[in-house]
Amino acid sequence: MSKIAEIYDTLFTFEIFSKKEAYPIHKRIEFVEDNCTDIADWILKKELCPAGSSVLDVGCGTGNTLFKLAKFKQAVGLGISISEKEIEFANSQLKKLNLTSSIKFHNQSFDEPINHEKFDIIIAIESLKHSTNYSKTLKNLLKASHQDTVFIIADDFIIHPSAESKQQMVLWNAPSLFSVPIFKELMEQEGLNIINLYFFTDKVNIKSKFVLIILIFLFKFLRKIVTKSVKTLVETYLGALLLERLYQKKQMDYCIIVAGRNDIDFYN
Ligand SMILES: C[S@@+](CC[C@H](N)C(=O)[O-])C[C@H]1O[C@@H](n2cnc3c(N)ncnc32)[C@H](O)[C@@H]1O
Repeated sequence: MSKIAEIYDTLFTFEIFSKKEAYPIHKRIEFVEDNCTDIADWILKKELCPAGSSVLDVGCGTGNTLFKLAKFKQAVGLGISISEKEIEFANSQLKKLNLTSSIKFHNQSFDEPINHEKFDIIIAIESLKHSTNYSKTLKNLLKASHQDTVFIIADDFIIHPSAESKQQMVLWNAPSLFSVPIFKELMEQEGLNIINLYFFTDKVNIKSKFVLIILIFLFKFLRKIVTKSVKTLVETYLGALLLERLYQKKQMDYCIIVAGRNDIDFYN
């Protein structure tokens, strides 16, 4: 099993204890104007998903985003994740919600061929930073797009690389955690243009500096003494805490990018 699959399988096994249905595996963002904290709700409120759209959710977690788009916008489509456990759970929910004819979930990498018709919307929430070769991943996703496909990408972006940000990237297996300008350049190289770039850095929910420093110290200590079986979990939480610290130090941005292929004119 790949390291990234192990991270998300482990996280799922731990988090599912307190959950009964699909849930977002991304940061809570205080979208004050839109009165929500889940990016799937924000997509709905911004009307980025016209009714009946076909949607590819790249790194779909437990299926939360697709379930919401299917419920409120009759979206159809596919969710893919490298985590077998997430996909197993998403498929079990699919049956409960009676959505088996409109939504599918596949346990596969976003670098593998995506066997489906072209999608109207391709969503990637906090997943693409795990790509080991961002250009290759984008090329693969572009094959699943048509000329008018809208890409919605939400993620963390580095402002100032530091020893802490490098450590965070290692803990989370996130080699494609780029700055916004580099990300934009890589997108443009593959023929994708940014239509809208939203900064939500100051809306990311973070703990106080004092609490964070104590927790980071504690988890760094735990990391040294825990057995192999819980090490991945401890390291994943340490990665989450380091990321919050980077936000606090103003070394990280949170953005949602809306993009499309550059062979169309979005402004007309
Ligand atoms: C932070 S979670 C976000 C989940 C979901 N997008 C959400 O917002 O709830 C990152 C997701 O990316 C998936 N992922 C990471 N690397 C992947 C890869 N190479 N191929 C497919 N999925 C991947 C993980 O399994 C996980 O579902």
